[in-house]
Amino acid sequence: MARVSSSFWKFSALLGIGWLTTLGLSRTAITADEPKPGIPWSQQKSGLEFQSKSNRERQEDLTVNPGMLWVDQGAEIWARREGVAGKSCQDCHGEPERMKGVATRYPAFDARMNRLHSLETRIQECRSTRQQASPAAPDSDALLALSALVAHQSLGMPVSPRIDGPAKASFERGRSLYQMRVGQLNMSCAQCHEQNWGQRLRTETVSQGHGNGYPLYRLEWQKLGSLHRRMRSCFYSVRSEPPEHGSEEHLALELYLAWRAKGLKVETPAVRR
Ligand code: HEC
Ligand code: HEC
Repeated sequence: MARVSSSFWKFSALLGIGWLTTLGLSRTAITADEPKPGIPWSQQKSGLEFQSKSNRERQEDLTVNPGMLWVDQGAEIWARREGVAGKSCQDCHGEPERMKGVATRYPAFDARMNRLHSLETRIQECRSTRQQASPAAPDSDALLALSALVAHQSLGMPVSPRIDGPAKASFERGRSLYQMRVGQLNMSCAQCHEQNWGQRLRTETVSQGHGNGYPLYRLEWQKLGSLHRRMRSCFYSVRSEPPEHGSEEHLALELYLAWRAKGLKVETPAVRR
């Protein structure tokens, strides 16, 4: 049984919620060299499973999924010639369908640039160096639309990032950030999403905190939002400062999230309450 820290109970009390059922999960190692997931692979669940029936239907029926508006907008931007180079994404990459499978590998280490890229920073890179266009702001509709378009091409394919070789250091960094207690409430991501998933927190059910549906449409936002935006709310909820978009810490956390979602299907654009 995992023990829940007293600060966690303080936090629960602070929010006036009850974490009623017995907490904790048994942890089993897969092999000696495969890192141990906080939640056994066999119990892994997409955030979709924690949503209401109507939200699940909204996500799965692409004709009513509101996130598809961004995917469609992404397709328009994809074909538009922009920047000093006067090239569109399409000029170099062909039809968006050619991006099938790409999102399953991200965040990925880029050997040429010797850095980790999330799908978003990868797209920003193409915009600034290949198109020579002005950079797209992290939560801009244009970047969300392009990211959604690219990720959507991998719909239904299993998340499968690489964490070995040059990605290993970032993975380890992400793993330790995930366990690190932060903020005034002194809590880690793992305390909510690994030790207390399935519990109610105010009006929400805490999920396992997977990123396999991002960017996604959140009813509360009334628009599409990035994984970074979601993580930001989690950091704020424990009164902590989130890492900056595109920073090493941010990308390391995203890589760790992708690894712990390994095998779940890409669901972009997912829908959340
Ligand atoms: C002038 C050609 C050019 C343009 C324009 C361009 N790209 Fe790229 N893109 C590349 C090349 C070349 C690569 C391979 C990686 C590298 O070395 O930069 C790449 C890589 C990528 C990747 C990663 C693919 C993978 O398999 O990991 C994505 C995603 C991507 N581009 C998206 C875009 C988007 C979205 C646009 C439009 C905003 C765009 N690119 C515009 C040339 C281009
Ligand atoms: C106090 C509890 C708490 C902490 C600590 C916390 N989260 Fe969350 N998180 C939530 C709640 C509540 C939601 C919204 C309901 C849900 O989807 O789980 C959420 C949602 C998420 C989601 C979206 C899941 C989905 O399917 O859309 C991700 C990803 C996530 N959190 C990552 C993190 C990361 C990374 C950290 C650490 C930096 C973290 N969370 C810390 C409570 C927490």
